Amino acid sequence: MKILAIETSCDETAATVLEGSGDTSNATFKILGNALLSQADLHAAYGGVYPNLAKREHQLNLVPLTIKALTEAGLYKEEEGITPSQEEALHDVREAGFKEAIRNFLYSVKAPEIDMIAVTHGPGLEPALWTGISFAAAIGKAWNIPVMGIDHMEGHIVSALLEPMEGGYALRPPKLPLLSLLISGGHTEFVLMEEWFVYERIGETKDDAVGEAFDKVARLLNLAYPGGPQVAALAARSRERGKNNIIFPRPMATDATCDFSFSGLKTAVMYKLQKMDKISEEDKEHIAHAFEDAVRDVLIIKTRRALSEKMPGSFLIGGGVSANDIIRRGLVDLVQKDFTDTEVHLPDKALTGDNAIMIGAAGYLRASSGRKPQGPLFATGSLRLSKNG
Ligand code: KG4
Ligand code: ZN
Repeated sequence: MKILAIETSCDETAATVLEGSGDTSNATFKILGNALLSQADLHAAYGGVYPNLAKREHQLNLVPLTIKALTEAGLYKEEEGITPSQEEALHDVREAGFKEAIRNFLYSVKAPEIDMIAVTHGPGLEPALWTGISFAAAIGKAWNIPVMGIDHMEGHIVSALLEPMEGGYALRPPKLPLLSLLISGGHTEFVLMEEWFVYERIGETKDDAVGEAFDKVARLLNLAYPGGPQVAALAARSRERGKNNIIFPRPMATDATCDFSFSGLKTAVMYKLQKMDKISEEDKEHIAHAFEDAVRDVLIIKTRRALSEKMPGSFLIGGGVSANDIIRRGLVDLVQKDFTDTEVHLPDKALTGDNAIMIGAAGYLRASSGRKPQGPLFATGSLRLSKNG
């Protein structure tokens, strides 16, 4: 089964063509074509993702990236002309410029041999999500290919289950129940999956997401967006130096839930900086180090609680922050030392950030277990993984 996958929930525009085979016990994914463009540099000036700029960039880049992915996959065959039904398919695309870009695309390409389109329909920034959805819906209609909406967070879960192999990825099937710790720019939550695609949330942040806390601390340290990797790099230099006298609180560490709170930690960093009259590069490194330690410790404490309560067969971390080596190592050590019956899954470093491979893989797994694309799609900024399967 060949799938074209589209991801536009935040500041990455991505299109992938993959071929899936097998099912949730043994799936493999050949990556036939893959194109991704990050807008991070453009948003840096705003200190975060600016939704209307994200939308504009997605509209500019979606068609070229899709052409690139289809071309790599050998599925871009030129054919001039557009049929009345293809023209009709453009009806729901609102912006004139975007509509024209899709029309030109449809005019020049023969309907490719793909079986399904998978597109992120939430959570994320609604103007950004709508771009991907209206594009997918239009070309799906024009080519008569079903379009399946995928939850971005399910994508992050699936990405942690993919192991690189020659030409693509193989699913390493999790022993169920699977506990996922999702840590990204917009989310921080524990989700339990007792059976495939059926989710129960057992804890979440009450305020900032972990990635958001990294980004805010980065801003306090005058680092550009996205700050996570830069804070981590500063922290690494402090670790090399050895000694660090700064300690930040571990918010909500002792409460009896699997919930989190990170906004106080950011405030603690702010107060610390306000109290220092001259801030050297070395001070910044120590602050980044202390912040990263506090985040890691809270994630470990809460994961210990969640694992003790649920005793899952496997545990994974997913989302942009799962690229962080200190957090990865801390959580893997915890499971390997104290929860030896639980398997650990970590995403390949190439798949920690937003991408369309994870969306296509999730779409394939859903289709291979008999789930069908349903009705017209809507962008839902606050979409949540649920028990509905
Ligand atoms: O999943 P993602 O790419 O986008 C969302 O769905 O939100 O996550 C992006 C977040 C950003 O906040 C970024 O700063 C953070 O992931 N991030 C990191 C690291 N790499 C990315 N945070 C800490 N350490 C990293 N190495
Ligand atoms: Zn994400």
